Amino acid sequence: MSKRILLTGGAGYIGSHTYVALIEAGYEVVILDNFANAARRVPGALEQITGVPVTLFEHDVLDRAALDAIFAEHAFDAVVHFAALKAVGESVEKPLEYMQCNLGGLVTLMQAMAQAGVFNLVFSSSAAVYGVPESLPIPETAPLSHANPYGYTKLVGEEIIAQTCASDPRWSVGVLRYFNPVGAHTSGLIGEDPKDIPNNLMPYIAKVAAGELPQLSVFGDDYATPDGTGVRDFIHVCDLADGHVLSLNALFRDGLGHTVNLGTGQGYSVLELLGAYSKACGRDLPFQFTPRRPGDPAASYADPGLAKDVLGFKATRGLEEMCTSSWHWINTCAADN
Ligand code: UD1
Repeated sequence: MSKRILLTGGAGYIGSHTYVALIEAGYEVVILDNFANAARRVPGALEQITGVPVTLFEHDVLDRAALDAIFAEHAFDAVVHFAALKAVGESVEKPLEYMQCNLGGLVTLMQAMAQAGVFNLVFSSSAAVYGVPESLPIPETAPLSHANPYGYTKLVGEEIIAQTCASDPRWSVGVLRYFNPVGAHTSGLIGEDPKDIPNNLMPYIAKVAAGELPQLSVFGDDYATPDGTGVRDFIHVCDLADGHVLSLNALFRDGLGHTVNLGTGQGYSVLELLGAYSKACGRDLPFQFTPRRPGDPAASYADPGLAKDVLGFKATRGLEEMCTSSWHWINTCAADN
């Protein structure tokens, strides 16, 4: 019998791509989402892509009574927990909201899981837990720190999980530290859909390509990197989604938790990404250099070795596919509106 998974935040950017990957891998999936940062059309798009009717509960992950009712109705084998706030700038303005949602949400969920006897969890963490990296590529053993309340919630979330696992051996948790997820599903039906002006690089470039924003501001041209601009480990969101399937498979297979990086191990600069996107959309995209963004490290990229050893994970989609899939999604979206 196929295993049944609860996907919190399953209508969001990474959650929706992971939903598709899980269905394709033969899992049964139920989505919990409050649509705080997800589009209403996503469930329909997921049905179109997978051909499977979506089971969805619209609730907040902090709503314990709703969680208890859902766990009572469905015998879940595991939970993949995406539901959280993720804008770094906003987290500086509203730290308590981030603590409540990201930490309160995690604790509430784990309490509901324990009560229902579900002890397999995959947790969305972030390369933000490495703060400003001391050396590159970044292994999981690198020192941990935080540069903002968002990063703090991921770090403390990991700690909450570690202490809970230490107190009760029934828990098996996969902690996945994402690097920079970009791109979209090949169907063009789901992708990243920021409600306001994007803070992150790829969605910003996409809006410049679509003519919705005049030009990209490249934050800093004097970093100690080959072209002076920031270097990041961009990973195709479908590769990231596959990483969640492998993480669940490992939890079910080994009954052991793991904490791994999900990245490609390859860094690309801001200008390299802009160049690749220009190629994908067929025109040179305008940009200007502006001062560095405070708190940004010069470079960040993963040591992907442990994810390969423990999960058998290896990213397969390159920079070109990241950009063409994003551009395809932007055009499908525009055609829809
Ligand atoms: C950011 C967060 C990280 C979070 C991740 C979510 C910070 C410091 N880090 O990562 O905690 O997990 O988003 O995806 O905010 N850039 C520009 N112009 C822009 C936007 C970005 O030049 O308009 C540059 C940045 O300076 C950086 C690179 O592009 O060098 C990537 O930036 P971004 O996409 O925001 O991701 P991170 O900062 O790596």
